[in-house]
Amino acid sequence: MTQDFQMSALKSILKRFEPSRKSLIPLLQEIQTEFGHIPPAAIRPVAQRVGVFPSEVSGVISFYAQFYTTPRGRNVVRVCRGTACHVRGARTVLQTVERFTGLKDGQTSEDMRFTLETVACLGACALSPVMIANKTYYGKVNPGRIEAVLRNLK
Ligand code: FES
Repeated sequence: MTQDFQMSALKSILKRFEPSRKSLIPLLQEIQTEFGHIPPAAIRPVAQRVGVFPSEVSGVISFYAQFYTTPRGRNVVRVCRGTACHVRGARTVLQTVERFTGLKDGQTSEDMRFTLETVACLGACALSPVMIANKTYYGKVNPGRIEAVLRNLK
């Protein structure tokens, strides 16, 4: 879905969830699936639907790393900056991705092709240095391989 926030789409999602506080997280997950992120304009209607204050909805969104309030690129590239990866060249990995995408950590390209993020540990230290592109892990990466991976992500 595009960046545009569509209130009618939101309303139809809201109707599918019980007007109860326990619907809050599943409802936010559904909104994120639909819109690719949680538009800030959705916070108040969500709060009304489940019967909590908007501040509680915002609190839940910021507490859980799975929720995003800004649109993300079609391809999310995550570079590990953990210790094992750091000693095996994570800095070069990050610089390579930054150079290719023109992005810094946390940024999304204007054409929505890429979002770049760094992560404390991707849980695959034996494969360091590691990056993830969407859901695929790439271990023991080097600049040539990184560029080949990124070129294939449209
Ligand atoms: S430190 Fe990079 S995967 Fe663990």
